[in-house]
Amino acid sequence: MKGLVLAGGTGSRLWPITQGTSKQLLSVYDKPLIYYPISTLMLAGIREIVIVTTPEEQPAFKRLLGDGSKFGITFHYEQQPTPAGLAQVFTICEEHIAGEKCALILGDNLFHGPSLGTRLHQFTEIDGAQIFAYHVANPQRYGVVEFNESCEILSIEEKPASPKSNFAITGLYFFDENVLDFAQGLKPSARGELEIGDIHNEYLKRGKLQLEQLPRGTAWLDTGTVNSLHDATSYIRTVQERQGMKVACPEEIAYRNGWITRAELLESAESFRGGEYGLYLKAVADGH
Ligand code: G1P
Repeated sequence: MKGLVLAGGTGSRLWPITQGTSKQLLSVYDKPLIYYPISTLMLAGIREIVIVTTPEEQPAFKRLLGDGSKFGITFHYEQQPTPAGLAQVFTICEEHIAGEKCALILGDNLFHGPSLGTRLHQFTEIDGAQIFAYHVANPQRYGVVEFNESCEILSIEEKPASPKSNFAITGLYFFDENVLDFAQGLKPSARGELEIGDIHNEYLKRGKLQLEQLPRGTAWLDTGTVNSLHDATSYIRTVQERQGMKVACPEEIAYRNGWITRAELLESAESFRGGEYGLYLKAVADGH
């Protein structure tokens, strides 16, 4: 299965912060935002990931992430010239996903909780498509899914003025090999975008869209506004300081998955020249 991280967009709700850099490169406490979605894909067992960015910002992502070897994985890079909708990502990544299953995660979505991580492994064998619902106080801001007690989906609407439920569709999706065909047939919506919801509706029509509700104890944070970015930073700081363990440390995930050796982890640790992140990697290598 291929992983796709969509890290395009103008981040206009964060201007002026994102006028000089990409939103997904901003810090969430002690690491760049994009480390969080990358870690989620790695925890699902995905080792080949396409990073989709604006053309202008691509060099900065390459500088940060490189070819992926320091995380024991492979990164490919593609460009989204204009933000023409989430579903455009599939045709942009055509050569990577033709005939293959894929997981798409939005570059500004942060997941943390016991229901995630290794449990996502099961979706790498998906037949159809999988979405995740999360109860939120402000569903108007999201894709909203309405479903019954058996988790059968009744409707999907993008940012409805009068939401039919409080369940947002999170920015993590798994698709089988058919997604590219559906994406190639898409037409822009009334707001001029290629909508991810239209792809979901294609699967839904065929009885192939599955929904899972993320448990209450899960944290799903998005970072589209100054306040939500601040909330994410506070959350990560609180959890990490209490536990003395990092959330979404790709080098640690790679090491614990056996994708990099102890020597490679120590080499990474050294590269931080005594910085706090490097000391943490050293402690992981030393078995703490
Ligand atoms: C996108 C999707 C929306 C989803 C959200 C999750 O919206 O269109 O369905 O609920 O991501 O973060 P955006 O935040 O890109 O406007």
